[in-house]
Amino acid sequence: MEKGSSNPPHVLIFPLPAQGHVNSMLKLAELLCLSGLYVTFVNSEHNHERLVRFTDLQVRFSKYQGFQFKTVPDGLPVEHQRTGNHFMELVKTMKMVTMPIFKEMVQGMTPPLNCIIGDGGLEFVLDAAIEIGIPVIHFRTVSSCSFWSYFCIPDMINAGELPMKGSQDMDRIVTTVPGMQTFLRCRDLPSFCRVDDMSDLDLQLFTNCTRQTLRARGLILNTFEELEGPILSQIRRRFSNVYSIGPLHEHLRKKLIEQKHQTHQSSNSLREVDRSCLSWLDKQPSKSVLYVSFGSQAVTTKEQFLEFWHGLVDSKKRFLWVMRADSIAKRDGEAENYPPELVEGTKERGLIVEWTPQEEVLAHEAVGGFLTHSGWNSTLESIVAGVPMICWPYFADQQINSRFVGEVWKLGLDMKDVCDRKVVEKMVNDLIEDNREEFVRSVAKMAELARNSVSEGGSSNHNLNCLIEDIRLMVG
Ligand code: UDX
Repeated sequence: MEKGSSNPPHVLIFPLPAQGHVNSMLKLAELLCLSGLYVTFVNSEHNHERLVRFTDLQVRFSKYQGFQFKTVPDGLPVEHQRTGNHFMELVKTMKMVTMPIFKEMVQGMTPPLNCIIGDGGLEFVLDAAIEIGIPVIHFRTVSSCSFWSYFCIPDMINAGELPMKGSQDMDRIVTTVPGMQTFLRCRDLPSFCRVDDMSDLDLQLFTNCTRQTLRARGLILNTFEELEGPILSQIRRRFSNVYSIGPLHEHLRKKLIEQKHQTHQSSNSLREVDRSCLSWLDKQPSKSVLYVSFGSQAVTTKEQFLEFWHGLVDSKKRFLWVMRADSIAKRDGEAENYPPELVEGTKERGLIVEWTPQEEVLAHEAVGGFLTHSGWNSTLESIVAGVPMICWPYFADQQINSRFVGEVWKLGLDMKDVCDRKVVEKMVNDLIEDNREEFVRSVAKMAELARNSVSEGGSSNHNLNCLIEDIRLMVG
């Protein structure tokens, strides 16, 4: 809502400080602002400094009355990498360092808070809010299918389906996750299930924080009924007030258009966006380019990186590849002498950049496929843009997302656990050329369902209205 109205509910939104979480929760924040709610958005100091440096978000949000950013330390030194395997360190330091600061902040807030929308990955936000007496709704940035599989981990352990019994066990079907009994293999379970010891700390952390959502007033999921309806039904057997309101980026785009706001070029990136790739794409033929990105966290080995590069060049297809400065595990002292045929092949048909405006890239006419790590935001963005995927999941929820993309929704190919140049070459050709029609047909159908869900009368639109109504009832 624009400046001018009075007495709306005040909601605090606190994402886990990582790209995929901040991105989708900022979109939710803007949707709530557009409906007239007052919103306080909490960033880590580290991320806020980057958002201010690399985006226009301060200008973007300044038009909403009652909106403010607040910042908290994340407990890590400035130079800490915060990606790949180091990510879990962040979750742990926040509990110790951030929680007391957060509690103090919340208690002194004016106007007083009516509701906290906390990232379900940050357990301490729920604890603090319950202690202070403010209603909490959880937001999970992951898919419903992965949330549900996290929730069922104790059942898998009780049934003796976990731990996995070595690599030969990876294709065994898991039978204790309701709604997935016919196609879920051990290898599709969240990556932190790949441990011998069920008391593994990361596994415990993920499992416990998912169970904690039972203590929240509700659960917001960035998904839509037409995509994950059967799994949402399973979740609703255990949780009340489940609001599936996604795809959030499309939902927000639609609302901004309806309310005649400017929509183009706004970004929530924690990195500097290189827009030059859009002019490069302008020069490529329609649907000819494979977009390659493994998101904000994934770190490959040098060997994996070279297999991908060979596979892409050998496929003879065009490619646009996002390579973050921290996306390859560094090995000290090693000279970067890349094979000349790779460098030459890239000059002819490829472009490598550090970070793209991904939503715009996927919507570009030249893009015909997406080699992705199956992060949930990337998956939804690909679906809305009607772009079929090759999935190479890295960690956490991505293993199960890629199974659903390949096996259940038939929106692409699942390359999980394989990193071989011949396989890359074959899958790229399958997706972009040989079986293109088939994939494009099913993604186009799903894209339409996604757009309908966020339109007037659509399921996500309806659920967002219910969420806002329920928050309004928390006032007073
Ligand atoms: C991880 C999880 O895997 C994801 O499922 C969870 O919900 C959040 O944490 P991440 O690696 O960040 O996510 O991937 P993803 O969820 O796909 O989010 C990445 C975001 O960065 C996307 O919104 C994407 O558009 C954006 N991005 C990525 C860019 O803007 N430019 C790029 O070059 C690459």
